[in-house]
Amino acid sequence: MPTPYAENAQYASAKRLPEDNSLPNLLRYTYGFYTDIRATCDRLYRENGEIVQTGRGAFKITNLFGPDANQWVLQNRDDLFSSRRGWDWVIDKVFPGAIMSMDGAEHRYQRRIMQQAFKKHALENYMSIMQPEIAKGVVTWHQQQDFLLYDHIKKLTLDLAATVFMGIELGKEADQVNKAFVDTVEASIAPIRWAVPGTAMAKGVRGRGYLKKVFKRLLPSKRAKETPDFFSQFCHAETEDGQRFTDKEITDHMIFLMMAAHDTTTSTLTTIFYALAKNPDWQQKVREEVLALNTRYLSFDDLEKLELLEWVMKEALRMYPPLPTMPRRLKMAAEYKGYRLPKNSLVSISPIHSHYMETIWSHPNHFDPLRFAPPREEYKQHGFAWIPFGGGAHMCIGQHFAVLQVKCIMNQLLKLYEWDVPADYEMPYQLVPIAKPKDGLPINLRHL
Ligand code: HEM
Repeated sequence: MPTPYAENAQYASAKRLPEDNSLPNLLRYTYGFYTDIRATCDRLYRENGEIVQTGRGAFKITNLFGPDANQWVLQNRDDLFSSRRGWDWVIDKVFPGAIMSMDGAEHRYQRRIMQQAFKKHALENYMSIMQPEIAKGVVTWHQQQDFLLYDHIKKLTLDLAATVFMGIELGKEADQVNKAFVDTVEASIAPIRWAVPGTAMAKGVRGRGYLKKVFKRLLPSKRAKETPDFFSQFCHAETEDGQRFTDKEITDHMIFLMMAAHDTTTSTLTTIFYALAKNPDWQQKVREEVLALNTRYLSFDDLEKLELLEWVMKEALRMYPPLPTMPRRLKMAAEYKGYRLPKNSLVSISPIHSHYMETIWSHPNHFDPLRFAPPREEYKQHGFAWIPFGGGAHMCIGQHFAVLQVKCIMNQLLKLYEWDVPADYEMPYQLVPIAKPKDGLPINLRHL
């Protein structure tokens, strides 16, 4: 197990980090990061092994590859890593007060309260308001010309965010909320980090201002009466020892939660659709599974019966993890497998690399959901080989909600439609900052 240490000088024997920052490689890396991060990680790993430093100056990154590294960073046993200082460039302006940018005791305190909104009875309530909205949202999909799946999934998950997350009726306000929300999300990944008029950041800051006003106006009524949406659940969440969120914490958490939930679920649904279009045998198998349940809306207990769909979702998340990499910053100098990492290093781990390692996964380029089924269960070879939801203290708090939302949506779509893509179609997709198709994923959708 790697040992932490306080001062570099104490560990003069530690090996120096391999570097990949000659000028040509710097350009190759920067271009590759945005265009094909998977190939870039593969090259770095092939040429350097489990650890390599890229970039220079403020853009210096220590890349760690493989499940051992994922475990070391995410488990954070010796409290070496800061999530806040890893994510702050994304979070700083539009998501202040986000739980992901908290460390240590503050993070544990906020997470314990938030956890209340993810308990079984709360999840059951979200399911009950979500499913009629899904039915309304998807019923006319086959009437659309030039159908782009990604756009429709995005609209559906945005509408669900208004009802399930905020508890507001769809209508004029929901449209404005959606717009403000989209602007906020775009700002989080905008390259220009100052709110100069006309930039995505300026729009995002304005969007956040609007959302804050809406939450402030709705807070008294949400505090007064419990309703089955996240906003109300946050207002009423209380731990056994009586800890509750303040109004400001509720607003900050809501704005971040909606962002954390939205693009990730949209990305996952899109890649599931793509995989099922390319693998019609699997599309038919999961359709038969939902038909066998023979229920318009799923109950909480139905969720675990959709086993094939669960393996399909896991495989889609393996091949296209919505967050291809995750950053942390070292709070103190440390040693990993004999290598010396200085204090303040920006460290990156990469699900997109671990999810394709041939030492773990058989034929990793093949869509093969049964790799998650017994007896194969390839992911069990290492607890940190499959990490689409992260791990450790910051592990995705919405994981079970994401699974239930995906199952509720797929349950309805599989019974209404079948779909395919031309045999030679390969989805062009970007992985950074989040996995999504570059062409919107045109599919042929037919009503059943
Ligand atoms: C398939 C969909 C999703 C994926 C792949 C995903 C992935 C992740 C990952 C990888 C992290 C950890 C990031 C890190 O440690 O640096 C995370 C954190 C988080 N996710 Fe998700 N997420 C998904 C859906 C959701 C949903 C639906 C919600 C809310 C309902 C949500 C709320 C959060 C929150 C609040 C955090 C921060 C937790 C903390 O810092 O304690 N996510 N997610």
